[in-house]
Amino acid sequence: MSFAGKILQELEDQGLRRQLHVRSGKFLNFSTNDYLNLSSHPLVKKRAIEAVDLLGTGAGGSRLMAGNLPLHDELECKLAGLTGMEAVLVFGSGFLTNLGVLTALAGRDDVIFSDRLNHASLVDGAVASRAEVRRYRHCNVEHLADLLGACGNAGRKIIVTDSVFSMDGDVAPLRDIYELSVAEGCLLVVDEAHAIGVFGSGGGVCRELGIHPDVITGTLSKALGGYGGFAACSAEMREYFVNRSRSFVYTTGLPPASVGAALGALEVLGSTPEMGSSLLDLAADFRKKLVEAGFNTAGSTSQIVPVIAGEGSAALSWSRSLEEAGILAVAVRPPTVPPGTARLRFSVTLAHKSDNIVRVAAELKGL
Ligand SMILES: Cc1ncc(COP(=O)(O)O)c(C=O)c1O
Repeated sequence: MSFAGKILQELEDQGLRRQLHVRSGKFLNFSTNDYLNLSSHPLVKKRAIEAVDLLGTGAGGSRLMAGNLPLHDELECKLAGLTGMEAVLVFGSGFLTNLGVLTALAGRDDVIFSDRLNHASLVDGAVASRAEVRRYRHCNVEHLADLLGACGNAGRKIIVTDSVFSMDGDVAPLRDIYELSVAEGCLLVVDEAHAIGVFGSGGGVCRELGIHPDVITGTLSKALGGYGGFAACSAEMREYFVNRSRSFVYTTGLPPASVGAALGALEVLGSTPEMGSSLLDLAADFRKKLVEAGFNTAGSTSQIVPVIAGEGSAALSWSRSLEEAGILAVAVRPPTVPPGTARLRFSVTLAHKSDNIVRVAAELKGL
């Protein structure tokens, strides 16, 4: 058997083999990150089409070569306004943003302090930077402070955390982490991928708290309904990333359709900034129903609501039963989440109505 076949068989035996599905039929979709239901919004689609009509389907090159479009500039100014940061640099995706930011900020002589449950793109960015990586217990500021105190390294120290965690739906204690970063003279990078559009009138958790980390990273592919990523920071740091982020320099600029769609999404958000808080209210309702029914929703306080099943096989069987009832809630298993915490990951969106939420809670209870 080939090495790949052998590993696939091992994954199969452990109930961890993943497969791509094309789902036909209509589902009540509780697995999409299209939190504000903007990917099908008429104005968002219109702006994407207008951008294609004006500029074609591709940027035509790296932004440092011929691929820098006037629309990139417009989008960056609007995202800076949304996040309350001085400047923004748009990347090809959220993953590329985190990779580019961390590899530019840290090198061999530096130390990255990373929350244990940070997203894979932050984990990979930290590894690719060649810095020493120290992981602190999830959302545990005391442990982070201990690790910082015990670190004699003379290089740069960089704290990295998600704001809203993608698999638990909980929110990092960002004010405390920010204050610690200032007291210790560390750089702070906050990934707001799941918070942009939802918290802080759409500007994210940092904006809600009125704090300005060194870098906020975000994505255009979740609440904003399209594709792409960005780093919000000072104008000087932006210039530094333009020069030093390999995942910005050596790749093609974000295509016009994605830039246009993001501009459309920001236009909608600008005229209805309360979308995020309506979504959070709906999610709180959903959580309340699940907890009353005896389910464990971990520490969720956002639109991401996990329901912990334990073993991978249990999560899979719950997910299949819901699918038979026309509800899409994908099972998330190790290594994406720690062993023993396999779960269904529900994301509540503005496409959901109160009766959808009642129905899902009832179906789950009947499993
Ligand atoms: C916390 C977090 N950061 C970054 C990303 C990557 O964003 P993108 O899908 O735009 O590459 C994701 C999701 O995929 C995420 O959950």
